[in-house]
Amino acid sequence: MKGNIAIDGPAGAGKSTVARLLAARLGYLYIDTGAMYRALTWKALRQGISPDDSRRLVELAQETTIRLEDRGARDVAVYCDGEEVTTAIRQADISRQVSLVASVPGVRQRLVEFQREMAASNRVVMDGRDIGTWVLPRAPYKFFLTASLEERARRRHRELLAAGQSVELETIKEEIRQRDALDSGREVAPLKPAPDAIIIDTGQMTVEDVVARLLALIVANQ
Ligand code: DC
Repeated sequence: MKGNIAIDGPAGAGKSTVARLLAARLGYLYIDTGAMYRALTWKALRQGISPDDSRRLVELAQETTIRLEDRGARDVAVYCDGEEVTTAIRQADISRQVSLVASVPGVRQRLVEFQREMAASNRVVMDGRDIGTWVLPRAPYKFFLTASLEERARRRHRELLAAGQSVELETIKEEIRQRDALDSGREVAPLKPAPDAIIIDTGQMTVEDVVARLLALIVANQ
């Protein structure tokens, strides 16, 4: 195998489930970069820092330690300054604010440093929005997973229902639409496929189908 694997795509395209399973199959470390932006957003909200206050957010990023603990096929535990925030960072208020925090250049700079350090000392499967274009532009394997807005909203809806949260499908759809627009429209490292990424529409595929497709493409390009 040649090296690191970058997986990008919009919210709800199935990136994190696929990336986690792929990493477990290959014995690679899984790095969920979205969880890092979420952890910082969690801390900002808890400290009453507005997601518009770029200056404070950059300071916060500099004084915060975020740690990811890959627990294999099960999940990734997320720690913010030693406190476990794995579940807390999935709350709806974090999902609504995280794109604003992630649009601040100084915040990205700091978290990208962490991400590159982790990729330098491990074989990684890293998922996010800018991994193939910016964080690991030389990764030998780059995938961009996508699906229609309707399908992505339906998946999120099912996940939330399974977790006991009842939210209207239309509300979720609108939130994902807004997040996509912010993530794709920002100036620094916007969401877009790297020129050499393989684009996969996961709309009609199961998670297992997607993992199998990626593994086949990796094996074919060793
Ligand atoms: O993948 P996710 O939904 O947990 O990501 C949360 C937010 O973090 C997403 O709306 C955009 C941002 N993000 C980013 O800007 N760059 C990344 N590499 C990963 C996530």
